Amino acid sequence: MPMSLKKIIIHPDPRLKKICAPVSGVSPELRQLATDMLETMYDAPGIGLAAPQIGVLERFFVMDVACKEGAPEPRVLINPRLTWTSEEISTYEEGCLSIPGIYEDITRPAMVRMAFMDLDGCEHEEEFTGMAATCTQHELDHLDGKLFVDYLSGIKRRMITAKMRKLKKEFARDL
Ligand code: NI
Repeated sequence: MPMSLKKIIIHPDPRLKKICAPVSGVSPELRQLATDMLETMYDAPGIGLAAPQIGVLERFFVMDVACKEGAPEPRVLINPRLTWTSEEISTYEEGCLSIPGIYEDITRPAMVRMAFMDLDGCEHEEEFTGMAATCTQHELDHLDGKLFVDYLSGIKRRMITAKMRKLKKEFARDL
């Protein structure tokens, strides 16, 4: 399957604030998009990328939390939803391909169970822990128009947003 890199949308952008629509079924177009998103994510590089980050307002994301430790483990989660979250919490330093260069500690449930459909249209339910738990929750948030900076204080969030606006202006000038 041919692959092409997609342009990643940088915060702030109205497309990153939308609640995405459920995917009605697996199509060749969806398979191609997922392939392109994985390629874009590996190229960035990142460990997760949600459809709205490339301007597709549909409920799916790709991730690979193993990519730094050897064999790649590309995953595609379609129509993901949380079915359980642990009371135990954990804090990870999160980043986002739509907010380049910014890393902040975010606290979330340490374990989650997520139901989703795969690229063959099969339903699954899976438990995620550690980095994968953080990644799946971060990506699911994207499908509901939520970014990790939304967990920060207003002051911090506004500072980061101003920084990103400046970055986007510089990008535009360089093109
Ligand atoms: Ni992100």
